[in-house]
Amino acid sequence: MAMHELHRRVLAAFSTAFSGAPALVARAPGRVNLIGEHTDYNDGFVLPCAIDFDTLVAIAPRDDAEVHVVAADVGGATDRFSLAGPIAHHPEGGWRDYVRGVLAVLREAGMPARGANIALGGNVPQGAGLSSSASLEVALALALRRLHRLDHLDHTALALLAQRAENDFVGCNCGIMDQLISARGVAGHALLIDCRSLAASAVAIPASFVVMIVESRVRRGLVDSEYNLRRQQCETAARQLGVAKLRDASAAMLAAARAPLDPLILRRARHIVSENDRTVQAAEALAAGDMQRMGRLMAASHASMRDDFAITVPAIDQLVALLQQAIGPEGGARMTGGGFGGCVVALLRASEVETVRAQVRQHYRSPEGEPAIVHICQPAAGAGLAA
Ligand code: GLA
Repeated sequence: MAMHELHRRVLAAFSTAFSGAPALVARAPGRVNLIGEHTDYNDGFVLPCAIDFDTLVAIAPRDDAEVHVVAADVGGATDRFSLAGPIAHHPEGGWRDYVRGVLAVLREAGMPARGANIALGGNVPQGAGLSSSASLEVALALALRRLHRLDHLDHTALALLAQRAENDFVGCNCGIMDQLISARGVAGHALLIDCRSLAASAVAIPASFVVMIVESRVRRGLVDSEYNLRRQQCETAARQLGVAKLRDASAAMLAAARAPLDPLILRRARHIVSENDRTVQAAEALAAGDMQRMGRLMAASHASMRDDFAITVPAIDQLVALLQQAIGPEGGARMTGGGFGGCVVALLRASEVETVRAQVRQHYRSPEGEPAIVHICQPAAGAGLAA
């Protein structure tokens, strides 16, 4: 759905629910990660770009402490709670808890307990691993910052608050990548983010290449429990190696410590250490327009996620192999995001799109027999006011 159509729908939902117009509309994008998976919570490097799919939040102040919310997409579903007392979880969880969580952490961070009317809507594919929830959190945080003139909160601070809402309120132990790229993305570029310092440098996608996202439609099962388990295994590895985070470990340290490390923990650590290295190299390759090197790094990343980190599934491995074959040596493909389903990201020449798309259409089906969904996306700017 085009942006103006989405904007129109969110405004319509706002005026139907609350009458009148919002004070402002904020937007924040979803994301796709080119390389650097599960490295963020190890204080390492990631190379995501924001994508041209957004969540929009229309907001107006109220005179009381109530928050009234309507979701344009979810058939006009609503929520209501008060900022006067503690904010509880909603019994159904889901999108309502992202909204409640962001309001709870912003209030803790000094936002006045003044109510608001909110309409939200988006076109980020949901449940596909493209960070629709992070885009909602960041768009809402930005809307509240503007409404209450919390000018001391820059986009990095908003991303950290959005992550805190997800960690402390929703209960998902995610890293900072999704919220940070949604807040700080740069149009036409990926961002190499150092997840320790939160410094980011923009790397242009070469002009003749495009970012393709392929939704595998593999139902993502066990994601949260497996995600948290990987996180624990990384923490165990860091502890056993005597470093604060796996960011501080090297291949040489792993080789020297081979005897005392449990083989499974060693494999998990090896993925993080090698992935950090690949991510920094990938930013160099992309900046130099060396798409053969980029393709090799993406292939190595996928193999490492499959063999060492064990977060891929057979249908995704097959889809990645199919794409790699169709794309050839210039550019590449790998699973992207937390794993156990979700999407594959590919970089390929714009001139190859139709050939590659045809290969996917012809040769791929999900375990449930569905064809993949292919998107060509434009690396987009991070959160801002919707025009
Ligand atoms: C999810 C998390 C991110 C990151 C990725 C894996 O998207 O939300 O913080 O850990 O998985 O790279």
